[in-house]
Amino acid sequence: MPYYHKLGEIPHKRHTQFRKPDGGLYAEQLFSTEGFSNDYSLLYHVHPPTHIIKTEKPVNVAPQVAEEKMLSHRSFEGFRVKPASDYLESRTPILVNNDVHIVLAAPKAGHPDYFYKNADADEMIFVHEGSGVLTTMYGELPFGYGDYLVIPRGTIQQIRFEGENNRLFIVESFSPIRFPKKYLSKYGQLLEHSPYCERDIRPPVNLKTHDEKGDFKIRTKKKGILYNIHYGHHPFDVVGWDGCCYPFAFSIHDFEPITGRVHQPPPVHQTFEANNFVVCSFCPRLFDYHPQSIPAPYNHSNIDSDELLYYVDGDFMSRKNVTRGMLTLHPAGIPHGPHPGAVEKSIGAKETKELAVMVDTFHPLMLTKQALEIENDNYVMSWAE
Ligand SMILES: [Fe+2]
Repeated sequence: MPYYHKLGEIPHKRHTQFRKPDGGLYAEQLFSTEGFSNDYSLLYHVHPPTHIIKTEKPVNVAPQVAEEKMLSHRSFEGFRVKPASDYLESRTPILVNNDVHIVLAAPKAGHPDYFYKNADADEMIFVHEGSGVLTTMYGELPFGYGDYLVIPRGTIQQIRFEGENNRLFIVESFSPIRFPKKYLSKYGQLLEHSPYCERDIRPPVNLKTHDEKGDFKIRTKKKGILYNIHYGHHPFDVVGWDGCCYPFAFSIHDFEPITGRVHQPPPVHQTFEANNFVVCSFCPRLFDYHPQSIPAPYNHSNIDSDELLYYVDGDFMSRKNVTRGMLTLHPAGIPHGPHPGAVEKSIGAKETKELAVMVDTFHPLMLTKQALEIENDNYVMSWAE
């Protein structure tokens, strides 16, 4: 999806002989997430990426849906998800449908003993708290507060954190996560009206080639099952790669808000898109400057999308009792809007410090068993005066 990039050593021509110092051939791998008909990268491994030496009994990790159908405003305390030592175990699915899984995680540590691959879904990890480095076969992505890490499905990864206090908001997307089409030129450059540009996109850096033999476990998730597949060589044995399909980081703090004389609609906050959902960033910004403007949003009937808002930091002028890490879900079918008193209160305000991530899904989200455990009761009644 991003622009063309290359790191390390690659041959002058693709699909030609590229030899190691000992005369042997490097193993070329084409990596894409949509067959051979979209963006791709070519990676050059010291050893073929196919050397499986052992497989274990698969484990079912599919989310357990507790409420499949509903029509009610809901709210959840994301920070009530308990910290866990194991990275994969810490990942707690909250809301799911066939296009997307919304996952919260509070991992106390990374996973130096194994590698992870999501074979089904691109992952967008929003870093609410914590910092560290995400390493993939493409190199390293250092990350910190406010970063979106976007990882194409199939990427082998290993994450490490600097401390134990980490909070992640994760979107697993069963289609590629892309820059919104409306921001792109015919040939893929981010246009002048886009709220971010290529300079804001951080590709992998510091490619280290691990030419190591041994037993390397890659925990691979596919269709809700975790397969522990052991390989005979270190998966990060790439000497070089180039192309347009690779993981990247983008900081929400580099998103330039679009403002106007009157209230701007949610699409101005759009950050990413995928099949049947979008991701938006609500960032600190100046409010509308028409002399009669109302900064609070108008009521709206999102009849064709469920609106999920994840509150990060700052103030939230249209809502009462908002906490960090809180989620609100306003389902398609019933209108929603500011809480009582919020509209009048917003008049005259000059700016907002709110920071939030929104995911609008075009098909209804289902609630998992873990979602019910962190739910705020009676949120639907919070508009009653
Ligand atoms: Fe809304």
